[in-house]
Amino acid sequence: MAILNIVKTGDDILKKRSRPVEKIDERVLTLLDDMKETLAKANGAGLAAVQVGILKRVVIIDAGEGPIELINPEIISTEGSEELYEGCLSFPDVWVVKKRPIKVTGKALDRNGNEIYFENMTGIMAQAFCHETDHLNGKLLVDDIVRYVEKGELE
Ligand code: NI
Repeated sequence: MAILNIVKTGDDILKKRSRPVEKIDERVLTLLDDMKETLAKANGAGLAAVQVGILKRVVIIDAGEGPIELINPEIISTEGSEELYEGCLSFPDVWVVKKRPIKVTGKALDRNGNEIYFENMTGIMAQAFCHETDHLNGKLLVDDIVRYVEKGELE
């Protein structure tokens, strides 16, 4: 396993659309392992492969209960809307308020190629699922925000 370098804002790769994984080969499995280690080290809630410079639809989310590996994640449906504080490992020290759905149902493949469904996600899991899916579509933290968070507001 290896800790990968996280791409920061200003790098145009973050605006690119990631490609679906066609075959879960050794490279994808290594990427999952390295991303898990990188996310744990960075102490974040989620990491998309584009953030380590790889345009594949691969994501790790850790909403506080351990890392979840997601290959080709998709949002199936959403419900409601709320305003939430949000940050991103590619935007150090930037916090914004964004509108996110209250409930999210999604699906993805696991490392064995099995389709897994995530029904009625809420809280950080729902927010991270949306945030990381945005990354795969080249959407950034600072796109479509309600507002930037003032210094001191979160302290
Ligand atoms: Ni992010």
